[in-house]
Amino acid sequence: MNEIDIEKAAALMRSASNMAVLTGAGVSKESGIPTFRDAQTGLWAKYDPQQLASPEGFKNNPELVWQWYDMRRQNLANVQPNAAHIAISALESEFSEFAVLTQNVDGLHQRAGSKHVVELHGNITTFYCFDRLHPASEIPTGLKQPPVCHCGSLIRPAVVWFGEALDRSVWRSASQTAIGCEVMLVVGTSALVQPAASLPFDAKQKGAKIIEINPEQTPLTRRADLFIQAPAAIAFPLLMQYFRQS
Ligand code: OAD
Repeated sequence: MNEIDIEKAAALMRSASNMAVLTGAGVSKESGIPTFRDAQTGLWAKYDPQQLASPEGFKNNPELVWQWYDMRRQNLANVQPNAAHIAISALESEFSEFAVLTQNVDGLHQRAGSKHVVELHGNITTFYCFDRLHPASEIPTGLKQPPVCHCGSLIRPAVVWFGEALDRSVWRSASQTAIGCEVMLVVGTSALVQPAASLPFDAKQKGAKIIEINPEQTPLTRRADLFIQAPAAIAFPLLMQYFRQS
């Protein structure tokens, strides 16, 4: 990890009045939630993503899909926001405009105190049926199959599945944030899955500075203004230290 780049990133952030942070599964890695690309140990280890996180998968095997999401929802009780989530939450009050655009569905940004969070892919602790939203309080954990709503349809996790479009209002909010920010921090995403992966490019096109934090390079790296090659929970405390230096 190159401290000079961290110092430069902090200077870029200090010069901005509004900022966006785009996060992916990597920001939750140090909280103990495996990323999607950690194929050998990750969430996809035993399953084919199409079998689980897709409308077809849910239609073909609602019990398997339900139990996989329920296991992940129950696992949230055992994980905590890490130093990166906490640092991102602390940044919010330093800018006149600030938003977290996350691809994660674990709710850890909100648990760390972030107020303005746009959940691009939904959240595994919310649910809906064909007809309406169902709060988690209505849906006990440990069910072996999806409950049936009185409207007659199956209740499902309120997450974006492969092949599904993002919620229009969510996408509009994320797009407006991206084209309006002066600096975008892109943390822990492989920058592969659209349309989220286009947000940093949209921001850059409108003149924003892009700072990427990731232990590995991604398709975004060569377009980033600064690339901090480090795990998020290691880079952020140092970034915050430099950011707070006057
Ligand atoms: P991925 O699993 O595709 O990528 C995780 C990224 O985090 C990789 O680039 C890793 O190098 C990086 N990484 C790993 N450990 C890290 C750490 N400690 N600190 C920082 N970065 C770290 O996860 P996403 O990019 O979030 O979509 O995947 C995007 C989408 O693909 C997900 O939202 C999901 C999946 O299909 C839906 O569910 C719709």
